[in-house]
Amino acid sequence: MAFNYAIFASGSGSNALALIQMGKSLGQAPSFIIVNNKNAGVIDKANQEGIKVILIETTNPKVEVDFELELVKICREHKIKWVFLAGFMKILGKTFLEAFSNDSFYRVINIHPSLLPLYKGLNAYEKAFTAGDLVYGFTVHLVDEKIDHGQIIYQYEILSQEKDNLNDFKNRGLELENIYYPQILKMAISDEVEFVNCILNEKRCLKGESHEQ
Ligand code: GRF
Repeated sequence: MAFNYAIFASGSGSNALALIQMGKSLGQAPSFIIVNNKNAGVIDKANQEGIKVILIETTNPKVEVDFELELVKICREHKIKWVFLAGFMKILGKTFLEAFSNDSFYRVINIHPSLLPLYKGLNAYEKAFTAGDLVYGFTVHLVDEKIDHGQIIYQYEILSQEKDNLNDFKNRGLELENIYYPQILKMAISDEVEFVNCILNEKRCLKGESHEQ
């Protein structure tokens, strides 16, 4: 059965690209990508992969009901069931989320560059680096009405290295995001029932939660 999903992104799009490539390798490319920033690098990446880009510009990072109503309309037209956020710099509120309600959760997934609940909000890798954290990482989680808050699906721990500068630290994190976020998509596409069960049972949905260096 088709696994209809969309990706929403605002930035360089390394995660979006990794998701697209995983989806394509499984014969289930995303139906489209929503982009809210016309200068986002993700647009070229999606075009090169032959994925439809829908640009709905807004610079307001906060909830906007009209914006969400438009998203819902587009998603309904394409029968979208799941949404994967990949660096989408806009908060989604109830108007959007309720269109993806699965009784006990919303079928909207995000990746955040910290070991939540640490460092919610912007610049999370910077915050971990500045704090001198020896272990840092990223989290794949369900989206709810609160920012960077929903149920954790997967968390990956990374060891920082003494010689790291901020770029080393961030790049290592992003490279690992690009490897593991698509694994979540793969699990969802390969066995959606098991994926939902895993969410309902509040289990982490992938093994191998930390990186030995
Ligand atoms: C990633 O670090 C992701 O965790 C965060 O925003 C960044 C997006 O990077 N939500 P990219 O656009 O996928 O390269």
